[in-house]
Amino acid sequence: MPALVLLGAQWGDEGKGKATDLLGGSVDYVVRYQGGNNAGHTVVVGDQKYALHLLPSGILSPGCTPVIGNGVVVDPSVLLSELSGLNERGVDTSKLLLSGNAHIITPYNVTVDKVTERFLGKRKIGTTGRGIGPTYADKINRVGIRVQDLYDESILTQKVEAALDVKNQILTKLYNRRAIAVDQVVEELLGYADKLAPYVADTVLVLNQALEEDKVVLFEGGQGTLLDIDHGTYPFVTSSNPTAGGACTGAGVGPTKISRVIGILKAYTTRVGAGPFPTELFDEDGEALRRIGGERGVTTGRDRRCGWFDAVIARYATRVNGLTDFFLTKLDVLTGWEQIPVCVAYEIDGRRVEELPYSQTDFHHAKPVYEMLPGWSEDISKAKSFADLPKNAQSYVKALEEMSGAPISAIGVGPGRDETIEINSFL
Ligand code: IMP
Repeated sequence: MPALVLLGAQWGDEGKGKATDLLGGSVDYVVRYQGGNNAGHTVVVGDQKYALHLLPSGILSPGCTPVIGNGVVVDPSVLLSELSGLNERGVDTSKLLLSGNAHIITPYNVTVDKVTERFLGKRKIGTTGRGIGPTYADKINRVGIRVQDLYDESILTQKVEAALDVKNQILTKLYNRRAIAVDQVVEELLGYADKLAPYVADTVLVLNQALEEDKVVLFEGGQGTLLDIDHGTYPFVTSSNPTAGGACTGAGVGPTKISRVIGILKAYTTRVGAGPFPTELFDEDGEALRRIGGERGVTTGRDRRCGWFDAVIARYATRVNGLTDFFLTKLDVLTGWEQIPVCVAYEIDGRRVEELPYSQTDFHHAKPVYEMLPGWSEDISKAKSFADLPKNAQSYVKALEEMSGAPISAIGVGPGRDETIEINSFL
């Protein structure tokens, strides 16, 4: 029962789409377990480039069943337009399964996300504005709307009423906005019911049966470890658990079923939105990483903040996720630097610190301690094996592996599906 979790080891955007898609051919089910359309995967298949936000990247592999688990928050309009966009390009999406327990991002959740961010001013989180946080807040406050509610008009109406009761007070009295009408929301949501019906399923049962039958199930995390609501750089985080434990709660599969946890690790670091980032660069090196790496958000179109590799973060990701392997991505972006700095520890108020501090004050004060590694200038995009890499690129990978605490089992050397070096098989 090979059940693999694949997740971002940094602040997201590590190139998970490529990794998931690479495995997609041998995987029976690809499951998203948290987040929503705040995620963004770019998957390159042949000369076609696909940008996915909500759908699991397994949707592009014909033999694979894509699953949206109970832990995901779903904007129905985004889901339907992503599906029709793929259908127009000839991709069969009929196998998709959508958990009836997944929560729905309603139009008022999107409004609340945007209004709250504006209200926070310079203290804002820099959210994607897609209603993710407010939808998870409703879930925890037990006033959320679930996919299954679309099939009972009376229950749906009661739930929307309950959710808007307090929100309308806040919107009108605090934020000076107009109240949102219950019947309009109910009508809009009911309009999605028939279109979503073919996909709605008891995904927990389906996945556990699949594991019993020895099928290969891949759990695909959105965002990344440092954006985790519990283990990330709170409050500058997303509102769900991208870390490995989230796969169990967000898909309804017990921890004893998970056989491997793979961390996607970019050969340098990026972050979108606000929050601390010790190795961030504000010079021409940062600009070069952004340009060469194409570091612009798939979902938001925002420029990503860029910096050198941070081994303290990688070690932390190994620990909180119980990583068994790393998939190192975008090594090719570093080609051309004479020397490459790697952060091996932090200096915090005059002390050298080897591990990620739990105190946010300390983390805000953390300055990177760099070790310089020799760079390479040869084109590595055609490398098929580790031995094909220039000596200095090999040493860079080996150094990262040693510092990060788990074996690097695959290396991305270019954006294409086949531009990957496999060292140890994931299956
Ligand atoms: P939210 O998920 O829209 O609430 O945004 C919370 C924080 O997570 C913001 O800093 C976003 O930029 C960041 N974020 C959300 N999704 C992603 C992602 O897929 N990649 C990178 N950052 C993300």
